[in-house]
Amino acid sequence: MKEIYFAGGCFWGVEHFFKGVDGVVEATPGYANGNTQNPTYKEVYTDTTGFAETVRVRYNPARVDLAFLTRMFFTVTDPLTLNRQGHDEGTRYRSGVFFKDAEDRPVLEAVFNAVSAKLGVPLVTQLESLKNFYPAEEYHQNYLDKNPEGYCHLPLKTFAYLRLYQDARLYLGEETDTVARMANLCALIAKKMHFFWTGFYRVIDNQLVLGPFQGTAACFRIGFGKGVCGTAWKERKTIVVPNVEEFPGHIACSSESKSEIVVPVFKNGEVTAVLDIDDDHLSTFDNTDAAWLEWLAALV
Ligand code: SME
Repeated sequence: MKEIYFAGGCFWGVEHFFKGVDGVVEATPGYANGNTQNPTYKEVYTDTTGFAETVRVRYNPARVDLAFLTRMFFTVTDPLTLNRQGHDEGTRYRSGVFFKDAEDRPVLEAVFNAVSAKLGVPLVTQLESLKNFYPAEEYHQNYLDKNPEGYCHLPLKTFAYLRLYQDARLYLGEETDTVARMANLCALIAKKMHFFWTGFYRVIDNQLVLGPFQGTAACFRIGFGKGVCGTAWKERKTIVVPNVEEFPGHIACSSESKSEIVVPVFKNGEVTAVLDIDDDHLSTFDNTDAAWLEWLAALV
């Protein structure tokens, strides 16, 4: 068994999240890297103790590795907000990864560098060795299980996406046919998330050609740079469209589609397909969807 300490804002949500990660054996909220001993929540709340709300994650390294856990941490943590996560502010809500084992540092640094490169700016998230850790009071343990309506700074869909991602990874397993993988991935996303349309367009002969999908009949072919799909291909990045009517050149396959997200699929640095998801409500998609759908799209 190994352990790592994640400070990602309010520990109620972070604990709940990591308890759902396969291979995590135990997630315990507490206070880390402060200047006193045995702090209480009240003391930490004064923001003068130096402690950060932190979750101790104990995991089985045969089932999940540190790099994956840390990448998961960054899906639920904003690494650019200093001393703040969501609406929670103060040094106690600073973000950080604290390690006990010096061998973990290079693994963590590699993930930090990858996240920073993707965002194009340095991260404010701390990467430090663990100085101290005190488990929080009993009423903070399993808080969201005890209080299902309780405060959580993470969007609820985070938990659905985590389950979906892990199920999809297991389900797709070792299948080698990409179209088959796309087909089942669409089915899994559609069943769990209830979007209006979920499908893939594949790059074939310099066009996007309709692939496996779930939903109403759709356009067969989309050109490079055309519509939302062709734009995501051209710009090589995820595009979130809160209102399709406001996206210049949007291609309406169905009049019921109101908002959309398109995520490119990369292979050896080339865009080989896009994952296109439409919904029949406005503003369905945000950065949380973008992050998780990028993870899911990478599975094909
Ligand atoms: N709206 C897309 C076309 C595909 S359908 O949404 C399924 C676009 O503008 O590229």
